[in-house]
Amino acid sequence: MTRKSSPSIIAIDGPAASGKSTIGLKLAEALGYLFFDTGVMYRAVTWIALDHDIDVRDEAKVTALAEETPIDVTPASKSDGRACDVLVAGKDITWETRLPIVDANVSIVSAYPGVRAALSKQQRRIGQRGRVVMVGRDIGTVVLPEADLKIYLDASPEERARRRHAEMTARGANVKYEDILAKVIERDRIDSTRDVAPLRAAVDAVIIDSDKMSVNEVFEKALALCK
Ligand code: DC
Repeated sequence: MTRKSSPSIIAIDGPAASGKSTIGLKLAEALGYLFFDTGVMYRAVTWIALDHDIDVRDEAKVTALAEETPIDVTPASKSDGRACDVLVAGKDITWETRLPIVDANVSIVSAYPGVRAALSKQQRRIGQRGRVVMVGRDIGTVVLPEADLKIYLDASPEERARRRHAEMTARGANVKYEDILAKVIERDRIDSTRDVAPLRAAVDAVIIDSDKMSVNEVFEKALALCK
């Protein structure tokens, strides 16, 4: 069967640093859709907990925070490298959500069922409006199983660590490849073994292994799936 128009709800899932945000943003721009990176919501809750001196291992407190805090994810208001704005009570916390301390704690927070329930509900409401490229770990499996197109973007841990290392070094950070690789592997382990909504490809997802592909090749392949 030939598809007459582009899919309205596009879900892109995959492990950390597999290029989901880069591809998702390019795809959203090409189609004139909203780009929504759901990971920033888990990052926002993690940052607020740390900022309020709440122990991220205190599941009840962190869950209450996720339930009570309105998080807004809106199109980027500045061209400083951000893909979107992350606002909490009107305060811009976009760059705070990218701090290494958030990287180190976000997998713990995103494994809590109550946190996932609260954030998935908000994500679902936005996704169901359509004309959206939604990026995460469980979009095609849990948040929007009715998505018209599901892409699972994969790459080996070594390749993902290499890309992350190159990105951070370009930004002037002094980081070791081996340390980044260890962190990528640890986040994969937590994300894919948690009880609720573990990272996995939906049965009807198109799997793209980007190990030997350039950003442009992956983008062209994803775009072709939309046509
Ligand atoms: O994609 P990211 O690195 O910004 O994601 C941050 C964390 O949030 C990561 O540990 C996985 C988790 N996450 C999730 O569990 N479900 C999503 N839909 C998006 C992200």
